[in-house]
Amino acid sequence: MAKEKKSVFFCKECGYESAKWLGQCPGCKEWNSFVEMTQDSFKRAQKAGAKTSAINIAAKTTPTSLSDINLEKEDRLLTGMNELDRVLGGGIVPGSLVLVGGDPGIGKSTLLLQVCQRLSGQKDVLYISGEESLKQIKMRAERVGGFSDKFKLLCETDLDIITETIDKVSPDIVVIDSIQTMYKEDVAAAPGSVSQVRESTSILMQIAKGKGITVFIVGHVTKEGTVAGPRMLEHMVDTVLYFEGERHASYRILRGVKNRFGSTNEIGVFEMQETGLKEVPNPSEFMLAGMPEGASGSVVTCSIEGTRPILLEIQALVCRTNFGMPRRTAAGIDYNRVNLLMAVLEKRLGYQLSECDAYVNVTGGIKMNEPSMDLGIVMALISSYRDIPVPGKTIMFGEIGLTGEVRGVSKVQQRVAEAKRLGYKNCVVPEANAESVKGISGINIIAVSNIREAVDVLFNKNNI
Ligand code: TYD
Ligand code: MG
Repeated sequence: MAKEKKSVFFCKECGYESAKWLGQCPGCKEWNSFVEMTQDSFKRAQKAGAKTSAINIAAKTTPTSLSDINLEKEDRLLTGMNELDRVLGGGIVPGSLVLVGGDPGIGKSTLLLQVCQRLSGQKDVLYISGEESLKQIKMRAERVGGFSDKFKLLCETDLDIITETIDKVSPDIVVIDSIQTMYKEDVAAAPGSVSQVRESTSILMQIAKGKGITVFIVGHVTKEGTVAGPRMLEHMVDTVLYFEGERHASYRILRGVKNRFGSTNEIGVFEMQETGLKEVPNPSEFMLAGMPEGASGSVVTCSIEGTRPILLEIQALVCRTNFGMPRRTAAGIDYNRVNLLMAVLEKRLGYQLSECDAYVNVTGGIKMNEPSMDLGIVMALISSYRDIPVPGKTIMFGEIGLTGEVRGVSKVQQRVAEAKRLGYKNCVVPEANAESVKGISGINIIAVSNIREAVDVLFNKNNI
């Protein structure tokens, strides 16, 4: 009779180990964080972690000074999709493990299929799907365009077979769609469970690091918005990209949240079309398309995402509440930030907002969290409350402090230049930043140092 496999339990938040299941982790005090793993696979995962943490560093036991380490020129592989290359930090790093997360139906499979298509001209690509049949993938591929013979498909979920196939085919790029469908025989848990996901990822990591193959992993997102499975998944991979956007709108935003080979917070903008995803090189125009003119409660602001300025429309609707408890919602921006800004408005300018419902929305379904949007949010709220539109062709940005002061922000020249490029005539900027943009011609710069001044300029005087 086969020996019964022993299990260990560990906390998926902090890694605390225990011989039995515990409701609350003694290590990090998290509830319900214990998951089961067989002892064999646990040891293997530990070993894998140790192996990969020493990637490519020669097994030296003596410390080395930085100047003695020779870096070969990093040869990055360009996918030819500029939006993706930029988010990756300038192309694909060979041997890296990239996780692409996102809601179902957002376009993860389409994006990776298109990456395969672009790369299959020069590299051997293996696309492994555990979700769709060969025919389904073929149908999708036909919409996306022509593929070379270097593109190979495999429908499989057993990681032992996948490892074997990779050994046989030795591709340069592997796509795993999705990690939640993959399983390893000897882990006694269902595919998609924490231990399976963890084990599968560690095997894929060994493949990536050991053979220098770039592996793209598709990961589904849970209701809370993180990739399903252990948090460790995000720690294990080199790069984490999230694909977001509203399913019913056509644009999609690819956001870098972790990148060992480049900066994060870069975004790439795509549009979903009949023939797959198309890049959007000028997101500002895209975000402002269809903006109403002369409507109260609508304001244009500029946010910096990574290295790019993007103009956005903020809309607010403030109306008298029907119930004792005012309703507030925020879409695309932080709800608490909106509450805070409304409290500042109430205290500093005396608006009776506690009797009003307020709905604030960044149009286009994009999520932004830059403090420079504060001024735009506040002015949109006031514009709706007083039912006066802001003057036409005007943009504004600036962070707002608790005393109602408008504080300086970074990359002001870039923001103003983008506004000018799109034909804006007036730009309301923080006083602290005014000096650096005074020289820019063709756009009227208005400096304000607190929200009272901004209200004067935008709503009380007819000077712009
Ligand atoms: P998909 O890549 O299957 O999403 P995911 O892998 O993230 O679950 O994207 C599916 C959606 O994209 C689907 O609703 C149809 C749409 N789509 C197009 O509009 N045009 C196309 O050319 C393709 C391939 C998909
Ligand atoms: Mg898919």
